[in-house]
Amino acid sequence: MSRKILVTSALPYANGAIHLGHLVEYIQTDIWVRFQRLRGHDCVYVCADDAHGTPIMLAARKEGIKPEALIERFAAEHKADFDAFLVSFDNYHSTHSPENRTLAADIYERLNAAGHIARRTISQAFDPDKQMFLPDRFIRGECPRCGAADQYGDSCESCGATYQPTDLKNPVSALSGVTPVEKASEHYFFQLGDFETFLREWTAGGHLQEATQRKLGEWFEAGLKDWDISRDAPYFGFRIPGTEDKYFYVWLDAPIGYMASLKNLCERTGRDFDGYWTPDSDAEVYHFIGKDIVYFHALFWPAMLHGAGFRTPDGVFAHGFLTVNGEKMSKSRGTFIRARTYIDHLPAEYLRYYFAAKLGAGVEDLDLNLEDFVARVNSDLVGKYVNIASRCAGFINKRFGGELGEALDRPDLCRQFADAADDIAELYETRQFAQAMRRIMALADDANAYVNERQPWIIAKEEGRESELQAICASALTAFAQLTVFLKPVLPATAAAAEAFLGLDELTWADAGRDLAGRRINAFRPLLTRVDTDAVEAMLAASKEDLTATDSNKKNEAAMDDNTIQIDDFSKVDLRAARVARAEHVEGADKLLRLTLDVGELGERQVFAGIKAAYAPETLENRLVVMVANLAPRKMRFGVSEGMVLAAGGDDGGPFLLSPDSGATPGMKIR
Ligand code: MSP
Ligand code: ZN
Repeated sequence: MSRKILVTSALPYANGAIHLGHLVEYIQTDIWVRFQRLRGHDCVYVCADDAHGTPIMLAARKEGIKPEALIERFAAEHKADFDAFLVSFDNYHSTHSPENRTLAADIYERLNAAGHIARRTISQAFDPDKQMFLPDRFIRGECPRCGAADQYGDSCESCGATYQPTDLKNPVSALSGVTPVEKASEHYFFQLGDFETFLREWTAGGHLQEATQRKLGEWFEAGLKDWDISRDAPYFGFRIPGTEDKYFYVWLDAPIGYMASLKNLCERTGRDFDGYWTPDSDAEVYHFIGKDIVYFHALFWPAMLHGAGFRTPDGVFAHGFLTVNGEKMSKSRGTFIRARTYIDHLPAEYLRYYFAAKLGAGVEDLDLNLEDFVARVNSDLVGKYVNIASRCAGFINKRFGGELGEALDRPDLCRQFADAADDIAELYETRQFAQAMRRIMALADDANAYVNERQPWIIAKEEGRESELQAICASALTAFAQLTVFLKPVLPATAAAAEAFLGLDELTWADAGRDLAGRRINAFRPLLTRVDTDAVEAMLAASKEDLTATDSNKKNEAAMDDNTIQIDDFSKVDLRAARVARAEHVEGADKLLRLTLDVGELGERQVFAGIKAAYAPETLENRLVVMVANLAPRKMRFGVSEGMVLAAGGDDGGPFLLSPDSGATPGMKIR
C-alpha cells in the first residue's frame, strides 16, 4: 500500500554557508526520502531557510543592506549547494514568507485563546548605546568561575561553566563595547508545563530514539519551564498580533516554517495541505534534525501543534555531529569545509556514499576521516560496484552487439540478490544506512567473486564458448543492475548513468528482482573514477584560505563599530576626475546647477549639484572636479542625475568643490 509521507530537514540559518556538518543531515534525509519514493510511496520533502532573528538583523546591518536582501542572497546560495549535493527537496521555502506569517499568527492565536500564553515583565541586559536588548551571545565578560576574559554571556569556552549573562564580571555589549544596563519589558511565554501529561505520553509513544527519549526523561525531571517566545524591537521577524513592538522569537516560527513550506508547495501543485495536519490525518510526518535541537522538536513543537489542534509528528530523528579527522571541524586545520569548497574539488556522490557508510539510526557523532574516505570510495564504489560492469560490458558490446542473450549463467545469483531486497529495505527504512551499505557491498563481493571464478576473459579466448561467455556477462550485469537499485537512494546520478548504460527505464525498488535476460545494453563509460588525493589536499588548502580571509576580517570587525567600512566597501566607490564641460541654471531650482561633465573614457555625464549658492555657472566651465561615477542614476524633478560631485561643507559653510591638482585628466581614477 502506498504511504503518504511528509519529511523535513532542519531549516538552516540564513546567515551562513552550508558546510559538511549540515550536509550530514540533508544527505541522510535525502537518502531516506529517495528510498521511500523508490518504493513507490508518495513522499514529499520540504525545507526552507530559517531567516529571522537578531544575528541576521545585525549581519544585514553590518553590510548596510536590508535583512530581506541578505536572506535572499543566502537562499540562492543554499539552494545551489543543495542542488549540487543532489538533495531532492520538493520545495525550498523561507520562514520569512506570507504562508509562515499567517500560520505563525494562527497557531499563536489558537494557543492564546486556549490560555497557554502568559505575559510577564522581566528584566534583561540592554545596550544603551545601540538601544536594544542583548541576546546572551552578544554579551561578553569575564567568566564568573575561572575569570577567563572575553567569554560569552551563556558559557565559558575556557572552563566550560554555564551561567546567566548577569553573572559575568565586567560585562560589555559585543555590539558597542558599552556596559549593558538592566531594563524591564513585557514578554510573552508559552506555558510548556500545561502539556506535561500529553508530552510524557507522546514521548513514550515510540516517536523518538532511545537516546533522545532518555534525554527527555531528564528534562521532565528538571521540570518544564515556560518558554519566552517574544522579543522586543528592533528585531527581524514577525510582529506578534495585537502588539506594536513585540516580535515572535525566531524559534517560534522556525518549525512552523515546515508547514509553511508545505503550504506553499500545496498551493502551487494542488495538493491538499490540511490533509497532512488534521489530528486524524492519514499522512506520516517525520522530522530529521541534529542532536542539538531536540528540545525544540521533541517538546516545544509537539506541544505547540497539539495545543493548536494539529496532529503531531510520527517521528523526530536526531543525528550526531560531524567531526573531521577525529576532531571538531576546525578553521585553522582547514577541516571546516564548506559545501561549496568540497564540490569545487570532489563529486557529491562520494560524500553521499561515505556518509551513508557511516550513518546509523542513533545520535552518535560521525567522523569524516579523509584517508578512510578515499579508501572507502575507491574500494567500494570503484573497486567493487562499478568494477562488475566494467569487467563485462566490453565483451557484450564487442562480441554480441550489446545483446545479453536469453539465459543467465547463474539465475540463482540473481535470486540471491533479489532475496536480499527486503532486508536492505528494512535497513533503509530504519535509517541503518551503514549496515545497508555493508550488506550491499557484501553482495558486490559475491558478484566479483563469481566473475573471478568464471573468468570471462579466459573464456573469451576459447572457441565455441560464445553463449557461455554471454550468459556469464548477463549474470554479472544483472547483479550490477540489482546493486544499482540498492544504491540508487545514495547515488542517484550514477544510477541514472547506469540506467542509460543498461538501457533501462528509471529503476524502482521492484526492479531488484528482475534479470536482464533478452535485453540490450549500450556503450559503457566508467561511471565513477577513483578519488584524486590531490583534490582532497586542494580542498583542505582552499578551506584554510577561506578562513584566513574571514578570520582577519572578524578581528577587524570586533575592533570597530558599525560605521566602519572595509577596504572592499571603499573600493566599490568609483571616484573619477572630471572636467566641467557646461554648467547651467536649472529653471525652478534654487540650489541646483546642471553640470555636464566630461569623464574621459566614461563619456559625458549630467549631474545636478546643489552648489548654486556658492558658484556662478560661468566660473565652473573647464574646471576639474571629483565625481562618484558609479552612483545609481537618480531621477529628479528636473531630469536624471548620473553621479555626484564632491564638495566640502555642511551646516558650517561651503560648499567648497574638490578638485585634483592640475595635470589630472578627465576620467582618471581617484584612489
Ligand atoms: N535554524 C535552526 C533549525 C531550525 S529547524 C525548525 C538551526 N540551524 S543550523 O543551520 O544551525 O543547523 C541546521 C541543521 O544542521 C541542524 O539540524 C543542526 O543540528 C545540523 N548541523 C549543524 N552543524 C552540524 C554538524 N557539525 N554536524 C552535524 N549536523 C550539524 O539549528
Ligand atoms: Zn571559565
